[in-house]
Amino acid sequence: MRDRKDQNESGSGFSRRDFLKGSSAAAAATAMATSATESPAQQSQSQGNVASAEARDVTLSINGQQHTLSLEPRVTLLDALRNDLNLTGAKDVCDTTTCGACTVLIDGKATYACARFAVECEGAEIQTVESLRNGSEVDEVIEGFVEHDAMQCGFCTPGFVMATRAFLNENPNASLEDIQKGLGGNICRCGTYHGITQCALQIAQKGGACSWLNERLVGDLVAKTA
Ligand code: FES
Ligand code: FES
Repeated sequence: MRDRKDQNESGSGFSRRDFLKGSSAAAAATAMATSATESPAQQSQSQGNVASAEARDVTLSINGQQHTLSLEPRVTLLDALRNDLNLTGAKDVCDTTTCGACTVLIDGKATYACARFAVECEGAEIQTVESLRNGSEVDEVIEGFVEHDAMQCGFCTPGFVMATRAFLNENPNASLEDIQKGLGGNICRCGTYHGITQCALQIAQKGGACSWLNERLVGDLVAKTA
């Protein structure tokens, strides 16, 4: 028997409770019908404001070479480097744009690769730590890290090397204070800051901002864009 409160609310024998029950059943039926006919991607799009997640060809210029990859828009530059190109020098440590272990150079600027989508980087020149070696020769920043014992576990090292290279390219005669500020975007859990800054200072005191490897890469870039 219908209770008095419901009867009073409806005034016509159809209560608010009946209405809510009916609405819920209708909504559930609609959702079931939709999910039976649409894929998850179609459902997302039909709900609006969701971009297609389908992979497309993305051409990246990395260390002077062109690579065309099939990537979904959500893939970060870091994941594309590590998972699709086997360039594992840039490390995936925090994956939240905090530590700098994934640092690469994009058009010469030190950039967190975990903070950029690969599709955003089309048309830019990307330089990874792998570019700083040519056979048995390595960039003087790498030599300096070894000489100054600037690593322990080494997880931060590739990112620090790239950040140091970018900083010295722009600040060839930097002071120790400049270097400490300039490398502030990178974190070393093992605390090797002293060795890292001494390495950078030694190179800056020699005025050796741009190593032969960087000159070669710049030359490649000029030749490619000429
Ligand atoms: S992994 Fe990119 S900033 Fe830490
Ligand atoms: S050497 Fe271990 S995090 Fe820097």
